[in-house]
Amino acid sequence: MRHLLSAGDLSRDEATLVLDTAKELAQVGDRSVKKLPTLRGRTVVNLFYEDSTRTRISFEAAAKRMSADVINFSAKGSSVSKGESLKDTALTLQAMGADGVVIRHSSSGAAKRLSTWVDGAVLNAGDGTHEHPTQALLDAFTMRERMGRVEGLRVAIVGDILHSRVARSNVLLLATLGAEVTLVAPPTLLPVSVRSWPCSVSYTLDEVLPKSDVVMMLRVQAERMKDAFFPTAREYTRRYGLDDDRFAKLHDDAIVMHPGPMIRGMEISAAVADSPRSTIVEQVANGVSVRMAVLYLLLGGSESAIGN
Ligand code: CP
Repeated sequence: MRHLLSAGDLSRDEATLVLDTAKELAQVGDRSVKKLPTLRGRTVVNLFYEDSTRTRISFEAAAKRMSADVINFSAKGSSVSKGESLKDTALTLQAMGADGVVIRHSSSGAAKRLSTWVDGAVLNAGDGTHEHPTQALLDAFTMRERMGRVEGLRVAIVGDILHSRVARSNVLLLATLGAEVTLVAPPTLLPVSVRSWPCSVSYTLDEVLPKSDVVMMLRVQAERMKDAFFPTAREYTRRYGLDDDRFAKLHDDAIVMHPGPMIRGMEISAAVADSPRSTIVEQVANGVSVRMAVLYLLLGGSESAIGN
């Protein structure tokens, strides 16, 4: 594989290799192994046209922990504001010798387009409402760490599926890894194409919760909505929010996930977000290991990721 554009491009063996490599690399960054020389001499460009906290910082941390040189590009404050196109920006970065380009963009398909213009590996860090494959990989990694497996897990993904690249990437990857996914949302926040996705659909969170091993809450993406969504924020929280009463319906070993950023009190209560069964902070930490693994596997390095 030359690029990481879609979680659906990964075979089961490829996805497992990423997760196994991330496990090997998880020790890097602690006191005993601060940094690896694996990507010394490689240049990674972080090309962010949309806001990000977790993904941008963790790709930067991942590249630096592997000793790559990192160039951070944010559309704000660049020549994009003077009208420069994505293609010309990409060719400029290419001329500076990028071995890998991490891109976040508001247009679905931007990462694939970029991959036709640059020689280096392209890593999709979120393109519009389309995909966010490294988020799905870090979510699968977190499930494996907490539950010991992904295969056979019953995963409920809850909320604004319509605008969620995280949901689509998770559905594709989790199906590849053998989990059973149920999407839970009001009909107005489901894409028409969902019928062809490898998952089930429910409109009733209260029915799905007791049967779930993993409950992944999604942010309501108000910035992508042209019209008011179903039907009010208050009604949404009443029917689809993971509050303390609903949390009590989960079985004792079930975990709660959220890709962030989360809106406390709307899609998830503060007590649930901060409970020991919430993996939200672990997901962020695991994101660095998973992105190290992906950079290593795409940009190449020494034979062993952690070198012997
Ligand atoms: N989960 C996620 O993509 O978060 P950021 O938007 O902060 O990168």
